[in-house]
Amino acid sequence: MSQTSSSPALKALTDWWAEMGVEADETQMRAWKKAAEETAKAAPAPPPVPPERLPRHLRKKTHEDWVNDAKELAAGADTLDALKTAIEGYDGCILKEAARKTAVFDGVQGAPVMVIGEGPGGEEDRIGLPFVGKAGKLLDKMLAAIGLSRTENTFITNVNYWRPPGNRNPSDEELELCRPFVDRMIELGQPKLIIAAGGVAAKSLLQSRTGIMKLRGTEHVLKTPGGYDGPLFPIFHPAFLLRRPEEKSRAWRDLLNIQARLEAL
Ligand code: URA
Repeated sequence: MSQTSSSPALKALTDWWAEMGVEADETQMRAWKKAAEETAKAAPAPPPVPPERLPRHLRKKTHEDWVNDAKELAAGADTLDALKTAIEGYDGCILKEAARKTAVFDGVQGAPVMVIGEGPGGEEDRIGLPFVGKAGKLLDKMLAAIGLSRTENTFITNVNYWRPPGNRNPSDEELELCRPFVDRMIELGQPKLIIAAGGVAAKSLLQSRTGIMKLRGTEHVLKTPGGYDGPLFPIFHPAFLLRRPEEKSRAWRDLLNIQARLEAL
């Protein structure tokens, strides 16, 4: 081949062809090269690697990934303190971004009664403990009326650990992210009886769409994936009772019911 190539790559190619005894002029070579490039462009892209086959740290995490992370973290915690540390280190819930503190639990570990509320409000967010604001003060009085207290025989937590902006209710997705931790907390605490404070907690724990007006006043059963199986009593949320004191008589009846059930356990 006598002609010179304008690109080094093409020159190398034409030289190699010449060595092989193939004669081709540059016009011909360019046509072949163009055809080869077009074939490559038209070839279908290789299928993407499914996200679940990528190493975890290379994945863009989906909601499901974060739920799975929560499940793994919760399952790996063997004590309530270890679970608290795991929750504090978990970044899957967007509410954490705006919250000042993570409010996990308060009270006596391994207590016979576990109170589970909705989630931190302003005071809880400031202090990092559940039920320490106005509603918490009323909750303490309600518990005291049936011989319960967070310093002696009651463990207190929530179905969500970060204050939602403007104190809105936590969304279903936010609750789903916390749920593995809630279940593990119950499994590690092994309460004889659970009190769900308010509609958000009761509906979330029981996976029910029924409102608190219908859920309260009866005993329900809570089962967790890790094998807990025990009685759950929904009651009015103390914040609701602060707004609607006329409902206190029904709340009182519910508390007496809980007391009687506890004595029989
Ligand atoms: N309301 C709740 O449900 N939980 C808290 O911790 C505080 C207020």
